[in-house]
Amino acid sequence: MKVLALNSSPKMEKGGTALILGPFLNGMEEAGAEVELIYVHKLKIEPCLGDFGCWFKTPGRCVQQDDMAWLLSKLEAADLLVFATPVFVDGMTSTMKRLIERSLPLVEPFFEIRDGHCRHPRRDGRTDQKVVLVSVCGFTELDNFEPLIAHVRAICRNLGVEFAGALLRPYAAALPRLKRLGLPVDEIYEAAGEAGRQLVRDGKMADRTLAAVGRDLLPRDEYVRAMNDRFRQALEALTRGQ
Ligand SMILES: Cc1cc2nc3c(=O)[nH]c(=O)nc-3n(C[C@H](O)[C@H](O)[C@H](O)COP(=O)(O)O)c2cc1C
Repeated sequence: MKVLALNSSPKMEKGGTALILGPFLNGMEEAGAEVELIYVHKLKIEPCLGDFGCWFKTPGRCVQQDDMAWLLSKLEAADLLVFATPVFVDGMTSTMKRLIERSLPLVEPFFEIRDGHCRHPRRDGRTDQKVVLVSVCGFTELDNFEPLIAHVRAICRNLGVEFAGALLRPYAAALPRLKRLGLPVDEIYEAAGEAGRQLVRDGKMADRTLAAVGRDLLPRDEYVRAMNDRFRQALEALTRGQ
């Protein structure tokens, strides 16, 4: 199985997204997948011009020359795409959205009715590709991911790929600190690895495993108090430094 993971966190390997994505991809490799990881933030991807040049001027190719030129063939060749993104204002990062918009050359202009809905056919005719969402957020509740999940599900229907589920972790960036405080953070990383193994081995991730990745680590009030203390200290240090 060829896996292409796209991590769109601007913090790349230092971000909370990477903390969950790393063990997830390791788990996939352990189960035999061939995994490639790309940091979207390193790529030059211009906004879509919206003029349908990829349909009517240079069919199958964008008229713009940037990193999408080589990424398109990788998107097409993958059996499983991992969309890894932090929640930014209740959705995916703008860089991830831009990349997905620029995948328009992969479909043809024609309309077809698929599953009772008007769609564009894929140029390669593939019907076996899957997408999995990996996301982290700063707030504490899992419902922060709902708009993003709905969006990715809709994208999958639009592009004719199967939505293979979502690996979600609230307050991911705090995990290293919570680990130093003695909380069972390693269990979260281990569950992320297990989710990767399951996806390659069984074609799906178990609800119990997903719940272990998204689990609460401490009471919400306690977390909110600790974070506010940190924010206050950071701002006070700034004032002292002025
Ligand atoms: C511009 C911006 C918008 C954000 N919006 C949300 C949000 O709507 N909900 C939320 O829970 N977290 C939000 N966050 C917090 C990030 O999801 C969180 O810091 C996450 O750990 C970032 O992942 P990263 O470290 O991989 O970049 C936002 C962060 C930024 C920078």
